[in-house]
Amino acid sequence: MRMLVTGGAGFIGSHIVDRLLMEKHDVAVADNLSSGTRGNVPFGVEFYEVDLTSPGLTEAITEFKPDVVFHEAAQINVRKSIENPTTDAKTNIIGSINLLEACRKNNVKKIIYASSGGAVYGEPQKLPVPEDHPIKPLSQYGASKHAVEHYLEIYRQNYDLNYTILRYSNVYGPRQNPNGEAGVIAIFAKAFLNGSQPVIFGDGNQTRDFIYAADVAQANLLAAQKKTPEKTFNVGSGTEISINKITDLISKATDAKTKPKYGPEVPGEVRHTYLDISRAKKELGWQPKKKIEDGIKETVEWIKNGD
Ligand SMILES: NC(=O)c1ccc[n+]([C@@H]2O[C@H](COP(=O)([O-])OP(=O)(O)OC[C@H]3O[C@@H](n4cnc5c(N)ncnc54)[C@H](O)[C@@H]3O)[C@@H](O)[C@H]2O)c1
Repeated sequence: MRMLVTGGAGFIGSHIVDRLLMEKHDVAVADNLSSGTRGNVPFGVEFYEVDLTSPGLTEAITEFKPDVVFHEAAQINVRKSIENPTTDAKTNIIGSINLLEACRKNNVKKIIYASSGGAVYGEPQKLPVPEDHPIKPLSQYGASKHAVEHYLEIYRQNYDLNYTILRYSNVYGPRQNPNGEAGVIAIFAKAFLNGSQPVIFGDGNQTRDFIYAADVAQANLLAAQKKTPEKTFNVGSGTEISINKITDLISKATDAKTKPKYGPEVPGEVRHTYLDISRAKKELGWQPKKKIEDGIKETVEWIKNGD
């Protein structure tokens, strides 16, 4: 089939591209290279250097004529979304509407949308967090990611454009930018490898749900293949792990000579969170495969080889 990945030059998108190539699909990437790199796009993949909000995106979809679009391109920085909400909304909402318009005009069969389990639910009212948990985003990023979920449903009702929403937990793995604001595993691994001290905000007993990028790519592939009664799926490990424990594993994998420092708690940060993944297991037949220890080792190897 013909598959187009927006944001395919970035971290998660490039893992989806790899997985699609393994299945011998015809693959294209649409990306403006704002955080992704051309080097992440393998040989044999059609590359369109276009912005989500531009007419170039429509031209790319019109020329490539994908059957399925995996929508990963986004402004992903929570802090930037708070400082500059209009820029966040332009990329994440207007850019996504531009994509949906291009898809309906070109008879795309299905869109798989990367939403965020960490950002759309807000403070968990129950653990693990199920898909029908109240939606109470705490940031403009969470609001913009969720807004697109509504547009997808509208395009399904009005134009029969099929879709699946995947709400990821904290994704980690090779090719995650260790110089970004998020991605604690990549950031801490780089700090330990450089002999500096990573900073844990708070006491480190806060817990998160980490999922390996290749497992996320597999969930995308299954979502593209399967027709399911439900349209929204959490994609996470389904388990919680403390930041102290994660730091310990990274310290071991990097053979660290330094210890982490502790800084002030981040105000408004959620204390404990992890996702209920039973729906994805049941309906998509998906389940995370990578053990966290192994995933961390592979991430460290990638950073060692010069990110
Ligand atoms: N990384 C996580 O833990 C996580 C968790 C939940 C959801 N998500 C979602 O997964 C998706 C991928 O995230 P990622 O971590 O791979 O980020 P990333 O920054 O590595 O990848 C995003 C890609 O989109 C491209 N891009 C950004 N703005 C664009 C624009 N206006 N036009 C065209 N291309 C543009 C970038 O160049 C980059 O290649 C995003 O939609 C993000 O919201 C990520």
